[in-house]
Amino acid sequence: MAVILDARNLEKRFGAVTAANCVNAAIEADSVVGLIGTNGAGKTTFINMITGYLKPDSGSIHFGGNDITKLAPRDITRLGICRSFQIPQLYSSLTVFEHMLMGLGVVLGNAGLGGFFSSGEPLVPGHHAPAGEVAERILERFGLSEYRDRNAQVLPGGVRKLLDIALTMVAKPKILLLDEPTSGVSASEKFGIMSMVMEAVKAEGATVLFVEHDMEVVSRFAGRVMAFYDGRIIADGVPGAVLEDPEVKRYVVGGALHKPDTGGARA
Ligand SMILES: Nc1ncnc2c1ncn2[C@@H]1O[C@H](COP(=O)(O)OP(=O)(O)OP(=O)(O)O)[C@@H](O)[C@H]1O
Ligand SMILES: [Mg+2]
Repeated sequence: MAVILDARNLEKRFGAVTAANCVNAAIEADSVVGLIGTNGAGKTTFINMITGYLKPDSGSIHFGGNDITKLAPRDITRLGICRSFQIPQLYSSLTVFEHMLMGLGVVLGNAGLGGFFSSGEPLVPGHHAPAGEVAERILERFGLSEYRDRNAQVLPGGVRKLLDIALTMVAKPKILLLDEPTSGVSASEKFGIMSMVMEAVKAEGATVLFVEHDMEVVSRFAGRVMAFYDGRIIADGVPGAVLEDPEVKRYVVGGALHKPDTGGARA
């Protein structure tokens, strides 16, 4: 399978803290990669560097063969690398549907949504359909239609998470980076949310990297796992091998590990 994203020798320091220490990652197209590691291990820093929110001190990032290391986040998003945040970035005064329209780049102007509807629905570049239609379709795919007209402020935690992820889909991402898509969500909701996200992503044909602390979720959904510790990647491979790796067991998952149900052995 072809490599779509290639991070080479990434280094990032914050004063005395090394948040990325010789990080190398070649990501294959259409793969699903789980990023694990304890708090402060460097997972979000890695995502921030890929998406342009942080510039590495050294090293390079190539996407589809092009060097994107120095590009601004907006330009990286335009190329098809999209992300969700550890804490959903939502506007409390907007409804779910309005969020989708905003995400689709509909400029509301002084007339607000009324102006949008009366002026006729513009086609959204890349979607070949009116914005409202695209928004409805994505909401449906994420099981969010019933929340369409609710304000983001009153949404349950799991729904806020789903909306934040649904918003990343409007840009038709080639790569999706999800920073803790199930954090703050009850254990019983986690699998439902991840199944929904993975199905939607599969339908769009995107590569996914997701940060996750629950090893059962990682084992179930990731085809490959990269384990971070102290700014380094200490193990990289199929879930069964990485989660059984002695260093990973010691530094990342500790005694809380549930036996993974996928993957093979690593010497
Ligand atoms: N903007 C910043 N300024 C200073 N230090 C930072 C900054 N961003 C990250 N760090 C530090 O870099 C290290 C890695 O942080 P990072 O947020 O990447 O960890 P993480 O693996 O995402 O952890 P968590 O699981 O808690 O989200 C930590 O020591 C953190 O305090
Ligand atoms: Mg983080």
